[in-house]
Amino acid sequence: MIPNHPLPGMRSRFNYEDGILMKSLYAVVYFCMFALALVSISGLIVVIVMKIKYRERLTAEALEKYRNPSYDYCRHLAFHAEMNSLSADVFPATICKDINTWYVKEGQYRRDLNITVRIAEDFFSSVRKKNDSRDVVLMDADDFLTMKTFDTNRMIYRIKEDDADYLKHIFAMKLYLKLQSSRWPLILFTRKPEKLRNATVEHLTSMGCHGWSSLIMRKDNKMNFQEYLSRERSMLQRQGLRIIAVISSHMDALRGPFLGNHVFKLPNPIFRNHDDESRTHLE
Ligand SMILES: *[C@@H]1O[C@H](CO)[C@@H](O)[C@H](O)[C@H]1NC(C)=O
Ligand SMILES: *[C@@H]1O[C@H](CO)[C@@H](O)[C@H](O)[C@H]1NC(C)=O
Ligand SMILES: *[C@@H]1O[C@H](CO)[C@@H](O)[C@H](O)[C@H]1NC(C)=O
Repeated sequence: MIPNHPLPGMRSRFNYEDGILMKSLYAVVYFCMFALALVSISGLIVVIVMKIKYRERLTAEALEKYRNPSYDYCRHLAFHAEMNSLSADVFPATICKDINTWYVKEGQYRRDLNITVRIAEDFFSSVRKKNDSRDVVLMDADDFLTMKTFDTNRMIYRIKEDDADYLKHIFAMKLYLKLQSSRWPLILFTRKPEKLRNATVEHLTSMGCHGWSSLIMRKDNKMNFQEYLSRERSMLQRQGLRIIAVISSHMDALRGPFLGNHVFKLPNPIFRNHDDESRTHLE
């Protein structure tokens, strides 16, 4: 008998055995899938629990830092350094070493930004614009135009949740969009040179920054930015515009004459290197 021509009876027996084989095969496959699912779910639970524990530990350690008197000392020192444009080496490294990390990671920087933006929003919602289109608000575009580009990929946003530049960018943008939707005429300024105007405008547009009325850029690299911006503000006043407020996280934008009625200083992380400001001047 040729094997590939089996008798009808034999064929049915083979089919019957095939069926049993298939059934047990399915059972094994189902079992494996079930086991795999069980392993994945328990793995997920373990990861979640570990994450919660990690956060708890982080918060506990952060609270410990806050109880540490050097935390307050370093924060006030940072404020003083910022007001006086001192460089980061005024910080006693041994005392203030990790404090900035906690300030940003534990969420205090985010809370400070949130409160400052809320204070500014409250102010603007209480001010009545005159009906002559002469009221303007000046805003530091460098607070949202960071060196890093956060706008290229949404994934980067999530990864950078506790990145100080990212946080400042987000809150400055929030304030910008709020003012823009309340129809405040906005004049932006940046420390970037005039020759980068097209690229900068493009960058602003790509971030959803529309509707500003003009963009002040550096035409003169010899003058420091504080003097340069003061001169630009005086020109705005001479054109008959009223500066309602200047908003920036950088002190060089908040000093000098013709600051208008109000200045809003966005907070910086404690260990921000104030040399950065002079570096951006030279670009
Ligand atoms: C500040 O935080 C509160 C509470 O989380 C939130 O409702 C509010 O929108 C935040 N404000 C800004 C300007 O992000
Ligand atoms: C604002 O001025 C325009 C004319 O420039 C006038 O038509 C309008 O009624 C004024 N609005 C208010 C609220 O005064
Ligand atoms: C900027 O763009 C304008 C047109 O949008 C163009 O005429 C000008 O040459 C550009 N400038 C530079 C420096 O690329």
